Amino acid sequence: MSDDKLNERKYTFPTNKEKYELLKKKNEEALQGGGAERIEAQHKKNKLTARERIHLLMDEGSFEEIGKFVMHRAKDFGLDKQHYLGDGVVTGYGTINGRLVYVFSQDFTVFGGSLSETHAEKIVKIMDLAMKNGAPVIGLNDSGGARIQEGVVSLGGYADIFYRNTLASGVIPQISAVMGPCAGGAVYSPAITDFIMMVENSSYMFVTGPNVVKTVTQEDVTAEELGGASTHSSKSGVTHFSCANEVECINYLKKLLSYVPQNCEEDAPMLPYEPKADESRPALNDLIPDNPNQPYDMREVVEGVVDEGSFFEVHKNFAENIVVGFARLAGRSIGIVGNNPASLAGVLDIQASTKAARFVRFCDCFNIPLLVFEDVPGFLPGTDQEWNAIITNGAKLLYAFSEATVPRVTVITRKAYGGAYDVMNSKHIGADMNFAWPMAEIAVMGAKGAAEIIFRREIAAAEDPEAKLQEKVDEYTVKFANPYRAAHRGYVDEVIMPSETRGKLIKAFKMLENKADKLPRKKHGNIPL
Ligand code: HXC
Repeated sequence: MSDDKLNERKYTFPTNKEKYELLKKKNEEALQGGGAERIEAQHKKNKLTARERIHLLMDEGSFEEIGKFVMHRAKDFGLDKQHYLGDGVVTGYGTINGRLVYVFSQDFTVFGGSLSETHAEKIVKIMDLAMKNGAPVIGLNDSGGARIQEGVVSLGGYADIFYRNTLASGVIPQISAVMGPCAGGAVYSPAITDFIMMVENSSYMFVTGPNVVKTVTQEDVTAEELGGASTHSSKSGVTHFSCANEVECINYLKKLLSYVPQNCEEDAPMLPYEPKADESRPALNDLIPDNPNQPYDMREVVEGVVDEGSFFEVHKNFAENIVVGFARLAGRSIGIVGNNPASLAGVLDIQASTKAARFVRFCDCFNIPLLVFEDVPGFLPGTDQEWNAIITNGAKLLYAFSEATVPRVTVITRKAYGGAYDVMNSKHIGADMNFAWPMAEIAVMGAKGAAEIIFRREIAAAEDPEAKLQEKVDEYTVKFANPYRAAHRGYVDEVIMPSETRGKLIKAFKMLENKADKLPRKKHGNIPL
């Protein structure tokens, strides 16, 4: 083509240098999200931006962004004139403590982090990559919900994510941090993931907000009261961690990841551990009060047994009568479940059963051995419990333990009464090793209740019924309130001193490290939900 002809053409074409400049400009534009003003507004609410959160979360320089220039395709309500590169979510992959993770971080400065068709597509893309490559997905949620201008397309996007959350459940760990609004149907993605973290005073989750609540039930309630971090960490149990601020939230996220494997085919990372000749912990011998009705905090037992400083409690403020969390034993990641006599005497109720059942199932999905500390007087009686289905809910824990194929060890520290004895990882439902401390009481029920039932006539006919009752209580106590009947039958493998527990457990878990167990072939079980 002649020079004259070239000059006649409609477009001028940039040089390579100009093309490089354009790329640089677009990259800079994408980093700006919704612009300086909105970033400032975000900071004023004590919130970090989507990118600042990723920067804190990932190993320095490891984050690789995917879909930075994605833009929405909507045209209604003026959206054709409003475009932001990235469309309100930063997605990609990188490492945390050297291990691959996929992350999405919603950008509230772009349309309030609301979820559009393309925003959803970006999340779906990294979820699919995470599944194919067997690595955890972390979602940093900060969103006004469905992109209102897009209608059903946005709802479809949510469903695409929910579907993948469900398929990924039990295959790769999924963790949600809620760092701003999370309302309406949007809550169901975090709800399906394995763990939820919330930030106090800047995040909330609810299906319907305070205004709808007011209209429907006439209740006056603030967003924080209705669905803030403290509500969901203590009342509903929806969130597993309530964090003082975003930095704490991200630190918890990293810590949590350190206990879990990359996917269901792998084991959790093991920390190096120098075996010691003496693993005894004499202080444990003085921990349980002589009076069996006096409380003590099971966390002290846990901390006394596991590697120093390694206990990481989950669901700390919810159903405190049962303690769950991760710890390390000789460097090995384990899941802890313990009745806690310091709260409601350690009784099993609806909330404790569902809390522990979900935790047991997480550990079993991801090959994390289970260690159970048992001190349980039984299930909580009452109309409230019965009418709200303690039967169905208690069965969840029984089911969860029964189907768990990971190494499972129980230590009965004191009481193991009634159905709760069976439920709390008894030998009969598949536990591998069961230890008891010398003060263990393993029986159908407490001595007083038992004496009142089986000696009712004798007590009534006695000259001094109270003295007779005491005599029978003592008789029952001597016979049954000990670990030896169970040990004679092999229901307890060994009665040990509290001080010996750590050493025994290290050996037991080492012995069980190659355990291979399978459930009968089935499509899936039918846990009593
Ligand atoms: C589009 C939205 C949006 C949304 C917020 N924005 N939510 N844009 N779709 N859902 C935009 C605002 O227009 C505003 O844009 C910017 O985000 C910041 O919002 P503000 O209201 O100024 O912020 P704030 O005062 O902090 O209030 C945040 C908020 C509020 C509480 C989230 O924005 C809000 O109530 N939004 C609507 C929430 C909602 O009803 N969503 C649908 C839920 S139903 P500019 O341009 O001014 O910065 C749902 C169904 C999902 O999600 C179902 C799945 C099955």
